Amino acid sequence: MTNGIDNLLHETRRFEPSADFRAGAVASEELYEEAAADRPAFWGKQSAELLHWNTPFTKTLDWSNAPFATWFEDGELNVAYNCLDRHVEAGNGDRIALNWEGEPGDSRTFTYAELTTEVKKAANTLLDLGIGKGDRVAIYLPMIPEAIISMLAVARIGAVHSVVFGGFSAESLRARIDDAAARLVITADGGWRKGKVSALKPAVDAALAIDGDGSSTVEHVLVVQRGNNDVEWFEDRDLWWHDEIGRAEAEHVAQPFPAETPLFILYTSGTTGKPKGILHTSGGYLTQAAFTHRNVFDLHPETDVYWSTADVGWITGHTYVVYGPLANGATQVIYEGTPDAPHPGRWWEIIQKYKVSILYAAPTAIRTFMKLGRQIPDAFDLTSLRLLGSVGEPINPEAWIWYRDVIGAGKTPVVDTWWQTETGAIMVSALPGVTTLKPGSAQVPLPGLHIEVLDDAGTPVGKNAGGLLVVSEPWPSMLRGIWGDPDRYVETYWSTFPGKYFAGDGARLDRDGDIWLLGRVDDVMNVSGHRLSTAEIESSLVSHPRVAEAAVVGAADETTGQAVVAFVIVRVEQAGDLRQEADALAAELRAHVSSQIGAIARPKQVFIVAELPKTRSGKIMRRLLRDLAEGREIGDTTTLADTQVMNIISTNIAG
Ligand code: WT7
Repeated sequence: MTNGIDNLLHETRRFEPSADFRAGAVASEELYEEAAADRPAFWGKQSAELLHWNTPFTKTLDWSNAPFATWFEDGELNVAYNCLDRHVEAGNGDRIALNWEGEPGDSRTFTYAELTTEVKKAANTLLDLGIGKGDRVAIYLPMIPEAIISMLAVARIGAVHSVVFGGFSAESLRARIDDAAARLVITADGGWRKGKVSALKPAVDAALAIDGDGSSTVEHVLVVQRGNNDVEWFEDRDLWWHDEIGRAEAEHVAQPFPAETPLFILYTSGTTGKPKGILHTSGGYLTQAAFTHRNVFDLHPETDVYWSTADVGWITGHTYVVYGPLANGATQVIYEGTPDAPHPGRWWEIIQKYKVSILYAAPTAIRTFMKLGRQIPDAFDLTSLRLLGSVGEPINPEAWIWYRDVIGAGKTPVVDTWWQTETGAIMVSALPGVTTLKPGSAQVPLPGLHIEVLDDAGTPVGKNAGGLLVVSEPWPSMLRGIWGDPDRYVETYWSTFPGKYFAGDGARLDRDGDIWLLGRVDDVMNVSGHRLSTAEIESSLVSHPRVAEAAVVGAADETTGQAVVAFVIVRVEQAGDLRQEADALAAELRAHVSSQIGAIARPKQVFIVAELPKTRSGKIMRRLLRDLAEGREIGDTTTLADTQVMNIISTNIAG
């Protein structure tokens, strides 16, 4: 890692904004100056300008109960009204909000007026089902318009959504339903993925049957018909979306709620086995979502066509598919399926079809396209593109340059955006039209944010030095806590450096003071831009009857950033003829993790080993396993309880 980054820091290519881009840019240098003068006042001004407040706030930040913040506390607003009705009332009802493209090639379009009506009907349906302010609703849907409609309908009535990515297993879904005590699940029969229908409803049925007696908090399951696959039906519990929406009232007046009304919970992996329910609230979150979406993507809502390829199951889908773009009145594209279905040019075909001008995607996708070759995108007209964004993991300079040259015709700015589920919105990024771009670096904190790189003692490192990334002052879209676990919130984020938010990422400042992200410093992996916890996968592995012990590491991977690699010790009484069986068992364990957590967590490799490297106090030395998995010389082993163990493991794996 250290060697790699030293090479990167010699990156000398620089891209100044073109005169044209600068002239029409939304962002300006003055934002930094204005924000530096008084951060809370700056956010107050942004919020008042970007959002409609039914009751204007008189306070900005309250940090008196740190690390629990409130923003705009005495103001009142309705998040869905801000994303919908107000655009219609301003005369933009005919503007397209969503251009939805299904994987098989079907499509649907919603103007702002149409989307508003759909959300009103869905809000009335929720109210009819007895859902009210503060109730939790789990959403387990494919990337179809109903996912967005559901989220906004929940927000509209002051309830709280918990979107669970459709790739998660029944068990993961149930754990999230239980943790938030959700009363309703919104799902679909199935959705299209990789050329076929992938069923979802059976996972909901399985999730709710896990305890055997049906005693979950869920009262109803609302089912969108999308895959037309056969589903089991539970008369007292299940309802078809089209039946309910079909008879719902089309009028609904959005009621204002206090700024700190919980908006959503989104679960993310931490360093322990149990996912954390990250809580976001309304006014501050929407302020920073709208501000960053407008300024980082240089959004001109009248003319741009924006596309974020993220699924609404992740934070990027919340902030940059639903709340940011719709609060700003943007026209966007959403796509149901995978980039390679039915052909590897599908993304570029969609950009050509809808004349997408702003694209926001993950480095792992870009690296995959790079491997396939430029002849694929070259076959499509991508001249509508004028800005490219990257998110989820560091984008290496080669992928950055390829993105700009091949997808952006050598002209478009590329913004590398660093943030997290917890930060709610983008924190570190260049501003297009303002910043001179530097491939590979996320560059600078956005206006209104105070971000530092600290050494272990908590002292800010100077230029050309590395340390840990922290946010040193509260920001509007910061998480307000971990659902049901205030102690874990304080402990996880605020105890490493008291008073400062510890992000869990290593970072380095280069000679200009620009930020380079170095990856997680905790036991969290980043696979294809998605966070996975080593502990969660280890506990899934040891729940298999044949596994005695397991250690999981994230090993560097050319395409996915990191890949999950597991080392497993098999129970002695069940060892059998391991040599013969190792492959079959490895396959079985990979499938086991996939069915317990979800396909994204499936280990790329499982090594059956006789020992694991441990310190004298019994802690697994993952660093050594990572050396092994990445094919490196094994590092310092002197703190191992048994210094021979690495030789044994390497021989084992080689055989
Ligand atoms: C972790 C957060 C932010 C939405 C998607 C992921 C890594 C994210 C970057 C970037 C380097 C990045 C960090 C962070 N990360 N963006 N531009 N450069 N690393 O959200 O699942 O909450 O994961 O993703 O390690 O801590 P998330």
